[in-house]
Amino acid sequence: MKRLEGKVAFLTGAAGGIGAATARRFVAEGARVALADLNGDAAQALADEIGEAAIAFGVDIGEEAAFKAAIDATATAFGRLDILFNNAALTDMATMIGDSNAVDISNEIWERTLHVNVTGYLYGCRHAIPHIAAAGGGSIINMASGSGMLGDQARIAYGTSKAAVISMTKYLATQHGHQKIRCNGIAPGPIVTPHSRAVGGAEFAIIARHMPMGELGEPADIAALASFLAAKESRYINGQIITIDGGMSAHHAHVMDMQDHVARLAAAASPQPVGA
Ligand SMILES: NC(=O)c1ccc[n+]([C@@H]2O[C@H](COP(=O)([O-])OP(=O)(O)OC[C@H]3O[C@@H](n4cnc5c(N)ncnc54)[C@H](O)[C@@H]3O)[C@@H](O)[C@H]2O)c1
Repeated sequence: MKRLEGKVAFLTGAAGGIGAATARRFVAEGARVALADLNGDAAQALADEIGEAAIAFGVDIGEEAAFKAAIDATATAFGRLDILFNNAALTDMATMIGDSNAVDISNEIWERTLHVNVTGYLYGCRHAIPHIAAAGGGSIINMASGSGMLGDQARIAYGTSKAAVISMTKYLATQHGHQKIRCNGIAPGPIVTPHSRAVGGAEFAIIARHMPMGELGEPADIAALASFLAAKESRYINGQIITIDGGMSAHHAHVMDMQDHVARLAAAASPQPVGA
């Protein structure tokens, strides 16, 4: 028996790097999936590739009526809804460049970011919960980020939105546990996706230097965790934020530089053979 046999999942941001990897993983685990994305063509292309276990919707999660209609249509098409993967977020270049600091960010970017990344997740929960409850319970997985736990040079709105997602996750877990609906968050470190490679590829070497494992994560790493959180195996995990970052957040910021420094001191202190 596969982990998600008979289950139905609704995924947002499903055409993106992490969303598509998770959709494929859920289907491999036996689920049927609804793929929702602002980029409806890309969501449809993925649904076509997956076949009859998938349907697609071109949806802006910030538009409540359209988002609700897609969730309701999923429950009608597949007869139930068990899993919501709230995963979409504004990752387009214009938003990322404009999302700077408190002094320079425009109200428009601040408000749009909080609306999509936070209120959009609320809409998803609001309209999925009645279906999940009707199915006897299930799992909501919210996409947070390490950026919701630590500060950064830029992206104050994105980080603030992810901190709100972390808090919302705990409230959902608390308020809907009695309906056997669990809610957990995933907080990834840097994950290499086609999009992040395009916009941030030049920074990967800097980041990797500060990773204990010396490498960035892959969408499949997140998909594996999401499938575990969606499945019955994790039935007693509720209200948790699971960090998945190769150990990036486990150490003090200076440690990797200090390792290099100590190695240089040790090399300088060791006697070198003549002629070396
Ligand atoms: N890649 C990383 O390093 C990383 C790290 C931490 C957290 N995350 C989070 O993981 C999630 C997925 O990110 P990704 O790396 O796969 O990014 P991505 O850019 O590949 O995918 C994001 C998807 O969301 C869609 N989207 C954007 N706005 C939308 C809206 N209003 N309605 C519906 N869909 C919308 C986009 O069209 C895109 O397909 C995001 O919540 C992101 O914040 C990513």
